[in-house]
Amino acid sequence: MPSNFLPAMPDFGSVEAVLNPRAEDVYAADVACYPPAYRATRRRIDLLCQSFAEGVTLYRGRVAGSVAVLGYSAWHPFDVSLLGGPWPKEVPVDRGGEGAYVYNYSVVPACIGGSVARALMQRLDQQIAGSRILAADTVSEHGRRAARRWGMRLHEAREIDGAPWELWART
Ligand SMILES: CC(C)(COP(=O)(O)OP(=O)(O)OC[C@H]1O[C@@H](n2cnc3c(N)ncnc32)[C@H](O)[C@@H]1OP(=O)(O)O)[C@@H](O)C(=O)NCCC(=O)NCCS
Repeated sequence: MPSNFLPAMPDFGSVEAVLNPRAEDVYAADVACYPPAYRATRRRIDLLCQSFAEGVTLYRGRVAGSVAVLGYSAWHPFDVSLLGGPWPKEVPVDRGGEGAYVYNYSVVPACIGGSVARALMQRLDQQIAGSRILAADTVSEHGRRAARRWGMRLHEAREIDGAPWELWART
C-alpha cells in the first residue's frame, strides 16, 4: 500500500444539528474530538448545558449503521470586564454580558476539512454574530485560524494543568 494512501471518508449519512443537546452526548463528543489534555470536564459540560443550553449545538450522523457524535460547538455570554485581568479557569455565564465567549468548536478528526466542520463553523458564526466583543480558548492551529477569521488576536497565553493554552479575543 503506498505510504500516502488515505482511506475514503466515512459516509456520515444525514447529519443532524441538535440544539439543546443532552450533556452526556456533548461529553461523548468532547472525548471523541480531543486528546485527554484538552478535554472538558463533565462538570463544565453539565454547567454549559444547564445554564446556557441555547449556546450548545451537537452534530451527529449515521456511521456503519449506528448514530455517532461528530462534533459540537458551545458559547455563552460573558462579562467583558473579565478581559481586564487573568482569564478565569471557569468563566461564569452572564446572560446580561455584552461579550460572547466561544467555549468550543470541534469535530471528530475524520470530519476536519469537510462539510460537517463547515456547517458547524458557519452556524456558530451566525449564533455569535450579535456580539462585537469575542473571546475564545484556542488549543490548536485550527482554533487560531478560526479566531483570526473572527478578527480576534492573542490576548493571553499560559499553561493550564501542564498543557499550553491561549485566549484569543476581539475587544
Ligand atoms: C475547528 C474545526 C471545527 C474547523 O474545521 P476546519 O474544517 O478545519 O475549518 P476551516 O478553517 O478549514 O474552515 C472550513 C469552513 O468553515 C467555515 N468557517 C471557518 N471558520 C469560520 C469563521 N471564523 N467564521 C465563519 N465561518 C468559518 C468556512 O465556511 C470555511 O470554509 P472556507 O474557508 O471555504 O470559507 C476543526 O479544525 C476541528 O475540529 N479541529 C480539531 C479541534 C480543535 O482544535 N478545535 C479548535 C478548538 S481551539
